[in-house]
Amino acid sequence: MAKLTIVKEGDDTLRKVCRPVTEITPKILRLLDDMLETMHKANGVGLAAPQVGILRRIAIVETEPGTVYELINPEIIAVDGKQVGTEGCLSSPGEYGVVARPMTVTVRYTNRHGEEMTATGSELLARAFCHEIDHLDGVLFKDKASKMLKSEDVE
Ligand code: CO
Repeated sequence: MAKLTIVKEGDDTLRKVCRPVTEITPKILRLLDDMLETMHKANGVGLAAPQVGILRRIAIVETEPGTVYELINPEIIAVDGKQVGTEGCLSSPGEYGVVARPMTVTVRYTNRHGEEMTATGSELLARAFCHEIDHLDGVLFKDKASKMLKSEDVE
């Protein structure tokens, strides 16, 4: 595995719409492994492929240590409720904003074995699913933040 470089806000890559994965190749599997390692080293709970310069619809989410979602071509297929909370992004270090998200989200995706899966998450997991899938469409949390916070205001 190899640690990848995380693209920072301001880079055009983060504003592009990513292309679907049509075939799960060894290269895609290596990308998933490298993204997980990169996310762990950065102490993140989510990472999307465009954040490492790859314009493909792939994201990793791990809000509970050890429970990793490797999302290939993820789509939100159901939402319920609402939560308003603080959000940040590995591409915007030290910056946080207040973002409204659904309380519960169901995602349909393909896993690394090519199987179609669904996953339902609430609270932080729902927030992470929404945040990472937004990245695949070039959307950043700041676009949706009702206000930005200074890092000293965030616990
Ligand atoms: Co992000």
